[in-house]
Amino acid sequence: GNIIFSGIQPTGVPHLGNYLGALRPWVKLQNEAEENTMLFYSIVDLHALTGQQPPEILMQMRTEMMAALYAVGLQHRRSTIFCQSSVPQHAELMWILSCSASMGQLSRMTQWKSKLALPDDASPFDTVANKPGLRLGLFSYPVLQAADILLYRATHVPVGEDQAQHLEFARGLAASFNHAYQHPGLASPPLVPPQTILSPAKRVMSLTDPTKKMSKSDADPKSRILISDSTADINRKINAAVTDSIEGITYDREARPGVSNLIDIMYYMDDSVASSPQDLATDFKDMSKRALKAKVADTIETHIAPIRHRYQTLIENEPQTKTLLRRSIDHTRVARRRALRTVTEVKSLIGI
Ligand code: TYM
Repeated sequence: GNIIFSGIQPTGVPHLGNYLGALRPWVKLQNEAEENTMLFYSIVDLHALTGQQPPEILMQMRTEMMAALYAVGLQHRRSTIFCQSSVPQHAELMWILSCSASMGQLSRMTQWKSKLALPDDASPFDTVANKPGLRLGLFSYPVLQAADILLYRATHVPVGEDQAQHLEFARGLAASFNHAYQHPGLASPPLVPPQTILSPAKRVMSLTDPTKKMSKSDADPKSRILISDSTADINRKINAAVTDSIEGITYDREARPGVSNLIDIMYYMDDSVASSPQDLATDFKDMSKRALKAKVADTIETHIAPIRHRYQTLIENEPQTKTLLRRSIDHTRVARRRALRTVTEVKSLIGI
């Protein structure tokens, strides 16, 4: 059967980019999964340590993320939902993989550069000397991500476009490990190079600067809509969204990024409204931007309202949250068992 794995950092309530790019596809995979498909969804708190938050904030964000995952429709009955840090094998496999991961390849990863606001062609070797902000964990982050995936022998990983480069890296690590340690006695290669499943809404853009992706770390809260936002928040943020001064509505992500992002958001929230973003734009061609924004805000509200409601109930209802956390402990056992099996095999292959 297929094994689905994906992760999200507990760095705040998910925004529409996380939702459309990842969480909604996760729920869809869960709901359409065949009997023999296994699904693992992890709150990757070890990755979040690269953000160096105060401990009580990190603790709270893990709980909020757990509530958010249920609110969007993940279910313990079908998916294994757990915190990365409660399965020690993530860190263990990471070290083993670190010993074969290429520094050169890691230096080409764009995420640590964007976190430090460096150009895409920045070299880590200049950066180490000049930027104390380049910590080892931020640089080796993709190795931990590869360990997450390879530990469960995931066949498919649903993510947004910003993670595609990391998944390519994970496939490369798996292939080189298999090449180095494959031997004739093994029925199958020790590690499984995973396939990327890119969401159709693979890159939702910022509402305040539609040339950048919507991001949790943007200083301006108006740049993103959270799945817990109120009706008024949604209206206010969509009304303030940056567009352009061109008459009418057309779809062109290059020339009209703001308008196209709003069209995309509306289409991907509810793809029953048209057969493509382009078609939706054609339907709206004579509309004013104000009217377009009202429609977009309305569509978001319709789809977010039940999620917001479930999220608030979980956050405010302490016993219910406790039950969730308890169930997640059971799930941790399931995850650990599978992770331990992979690490035991890997260790025996490498001679320890
Ligand atoms: P994170 O926590 O930044 O984001 C979680 C998921 O949301 C997607 N996403 C977006 N999709 C479309 N448009 C956007 N603007 C947008 N912003 C975020 C991300 O692509 C991601 O799928 N390194 C990962 C977490 C991780 C992981 C893993 C993922 C750790 N280990 C193993 C997959 C497999 C991250 O920081 O995601």
